[in-house]
Amino acid sequence: MELDEIKQRALAHLDDVSDLLALEAWRVAYLGKKSPLSQALRSLGSLPLEERRRLGAQANQIKELLEKALLEKEAALKAAEVAQTLGQEGVDVTLPGRRPTLGRLHPTTQMVRAICQVFVTLGFQVVEGPEVEWDYYNFEALNIPPDHPARDMWDTLWIDSPERGDKGAMLLRTHTSPMQIRVMERTRPPVRVVVPGKCYRYEATDATHESMFYQIEGLAVDKGITFAHLKGTIGEFARRLFGGERKIRFRCDYFPFVEPGVEVAVDCFACNGAGCRLCGNTGWLEIMGAGMVHPGVLEQVGYDPKVYTGFAFGLGPERVAMLRHGIDDIRLFYSNDLRFLRQF
Ligand code: PHE
Repeated sequence: MELDEIKQRALAHLDDVSDLLALEAWRVAYLGKKSPLSQALRSLGSLPLEERRRLGAQANQIKELLEKALLEKEAALKAAEVAQTLGQEGVDVTLPGRRPTLGRLHPTTQMVRAICQVFVTLGFQVVEGPEVEWDYYNFEALNIPPDHPARDMWDTLWIDSPERGDKGAMLLRTHTSPMQIRVMERTRPPVRVVVPGKCYRYEATDATHESMFYQIEGLAVDKGITFAHLKGTIGEFARRLFGGERKIRFRCDYFPFVEPGVEVAVDCFACNGAGCRLCGNTGWLEIMGAGMVHPGVLEQVGYDPKVYTGFAFGLGPERVAMLRHGIDDIRLFYSNDLRFLRQF
């Protein structure tokens, strides 16, 4: 075969090559050991010198040309392949990135903050205390000695740990009231604090009882504090949280560390006190326990009850959140169901 013809054929054939497999076949056919070009190069030796030089140079030129064409074709085919894969997978590099999911505050946290904020504007300070507590703070110093029947009001989770002489056994606090004692122990009046935090009870859980929940304790001690201050403070709190029209109701209740003790209810904001599903047709929503700090408690921390008086209250933020949002099961708060949590 004429060298020129070999070249024409090889180049024409290369045009038809459309994938890397066919390209390899082309390489074997036109540049491989058995290709006409290699054969031509091998047969040069039998030619006269003059012709050998001429044809040899020409054959080598063609070889270089074909090798270069091979590399170019290979690069083109590879680029086409990449472009095709991207096209198939639908990668659009101009698309904006995926938005990361943003977390949010838990409905309880939101409610705790809203409630504390109201009391902060009324001049209260926010403090926090330990969730694992001594018997002394949770019961004893709050007028609940061992064997006092009032202990049955709190189903207690005791900690299996050695007792501390003057403080007794350890437990998960059943309310935030122990912080009344801790705060008064380390400060002199005037005292105005609110204490948000988790509490624990050994409960058979149901729609209105959880074994872990929050409380917000309030305590104000000063010279001349009366029940009127308690009423004024709670009323103002209720109106700031539930709206300016709200009325409050006090009814006698018993807590060993207050005297008198009361249960506080707000007139239902859903029906304005007429009676509806939310308030169980009573027109009232019970939101907290409260009362005047018991003189025995003041004495316990070295405050003279003839000079100082005070009021205290304890409210459940989940309960307030349930009333506000119409949530009918307290267990929803801590069951980590995003369908619930995302609504707040
Ligand atoms: N600690 C009480 C409870 O958990 C509530 C309370 C607090 C009552 C302060 C009166 C005063 O039930």
